[in-house]
Amino acid sequence: MSDSSGSNDSKDSKHSKDSFVLDVTRIREEARKKMDAGPITNTYGLDTDRVIAVLNDVVATEVVCWLRYTRHAISAVGIDRAQVSAEFTEHAAEEMQHAVRAAERLSQLGADPDFDPATLVERSHTDYTTPPHGDLKAMLKDNLLAERIVISTYQEIVRWLGDHDPTTRRLMESILEEEEEHADDLTDLLGV
Ligand SMILES: [Fe+2]
Ligand SMILES: [Fe+2]
Repeated sequence: MSDSSGSNDSKDSKHSKDSFVLDVTRIREEARKKMDAGPITNTYGLDTDRVIAVLNDVVATEVVCWLRYTRHAISAVGIDRAQVSAEFTEHAAEEMQHAVRAAERLSQLGADPDFDPATLVERSHTDYTTPPHGDLKAMLKDNLLAERIVISTYQEIVRWLGDHDPTTRRLMESILEEEEEHADDLTDLLGV
């Protein structure tokens, strides 16, 4: 089977060790296009040497995800409130655990984890959103989009880490597995 598009040729030159850049804008756009595909996303592999900075962005992302899920869990109203709120609360707890695990790995690597609230939003891969009051569907979509974004960014981080740092890679793979479960849970609740 051959790829007739020939569009992958340009990737090699920009995937050198010194040029790791997460194209979050493109991933966010692609994530929006195929919401019905649930956790299945378009991604590509990269490689470079910025483990501490990348992990600190993961910490920020997980904290923002905890904030968003917690806000939505408390704001949820309506006939499906109990089920949706319980799911958001469960996910929120797991996002905070992800932040702590990434922070502990940073400490192992000799760095202080960056929980600075002043820079959380700009460092996070995902947005903190506040859907209209009681709009459960908007909340579910916001969180599914966020999960699809982190699934793609974490996949890229795992590929970039490759064999250079297997421990951090396994951590990210473990977190990634739970993000996919989150996306699947939300897809089921949305009924898409
Ligand atoms: Fe997470
Ligand atoms: Fe998640």
